Amino acid sequence: SLGEYEHYMLKEIYEQPESIRNAMRGRLDDQDATAVFGGLNLTPQQLRSVERIILTGCGTSWHSALVGEYLIEELARIPVSVEYASELRYRNPPIENNTLVFGITQSGETADTLAALRETKRKGHRTLAICNVVASSIAQAADGGVYLHAGPEIGVASTKAYTSQCCVLAMLALYFGRTRHMSYEAGQGFIEELRRLPAAVQQALTCDQQVRDVAKKYCDATTVLYLGRQYNFPTALEGALKLKEISYIHAEGYPAAEMKHGPIALVDKQTPSVFIVPRGTTHDKVMANMEEVKARGGPIIAVASHDDPHIDAIADDVIRVPQVPGFLQPIVTVVPLQLLSYHIALLRGCDVDKPRNLAKSVTVE
Ligand code: F6R
Repeated sequence: SLGEYEHYMLKEIYEQPESIRNAMRGRLDDQDATAVFGGLNLTPQQLRSVERIILTGCGTSWHSALVGEYLIEELARIPVSVEYASELRYRNPPIENNTLVFGITQSGETADTLAALRETKRKGHRTLAICNVVASSIAQAADGGVYLHAGPEIGVASTKAYTSQCCVLAMLALYFGRTRHMSYEAGQGFIEELRRLPAAVQQALTCDQQVRDVAKKYCDATTVLYLGRQYNFPTALEGALKLKEISYIHAEGYPAAEMKHGPIALVDKQTPSVFIVPRGTTHDKVMANMEEVKARGGPIIAVASHDDPHIDAIADDVIRVPQVPGFLQPIVTVVPLQLLSYHIALLRGCDVDKPRNLAKSVTVE
């Protein structure tokens, strides 16, 4: 039931500290400084022999796959490719031996994701599901998998399932990393950071009032750009998708540095850009990209770290989030973007839980 909330989407956004906690419950192993999963059905030999990972899904689940690519490559040093399930199923790419294929899906019923997994399984590859709905078609079709335990997601726009997917992918990166070269100490450090995550997300939710003010200012925009780099590039794509699907405002997500290769031509006084720019390796570069937008008169909304002293001088509006390590940032920085799309959609009179033309699970190809 909705309880104190006006919409399922808002309820599910607010459930995220808890849903992330549930994704981690029983899966962090302090003794061995690794993650444990009950249902991967992989022997240690099979695990070690993995040479490549394919992550596939659709929509928001495809965005979490992009986060997974950064995570697994950085922490486990296993090459990862991310594929739209709808393309993978017909593209017939050569897939090397010892490739592990993960289908990522909230509903477990998405027709293209199911077909992509079936096709790769038919060719003899091991297929696993990262899935929310227990005993769904994809969970059953895969050789094994990891459940999100996020609880039912009713709002059509995916929110808590996305952050839980990112969290499960982070734990998988830890797990694969620890079977290879990640040290005991590094594993322990990683677990500590994961344990801090629910509190960080809780703190990120306190930006709600600030986000409402930003929503009022920009709810009449016709195009919004979302820009971020590295771990926050997928966040830019996800922020843009959330805005499109529930407020019907045209939005595009880009790696911030790609701006100057075309999209910057869209910038004018009526076209706001949302920069996801927490402190980290590319922070200064993204600030430079921000200056380029500002010089062309584009309004700037920044999602930034609490203690960033320079951001107010450039951005028109700043939404502050707690600082977490780069590889966990997507789970925190997406929260204000979920809220922003929610408040803008409300101001525009849209049906946030049931946006036009969309279904919660897409069971046709
Ligand atoms: C976006 C959204 C969709 C789904 C996509 C995949 O908010 O909900 O883009 O993410 O249809 O659905 P699942 O994850 O159920 O396979």
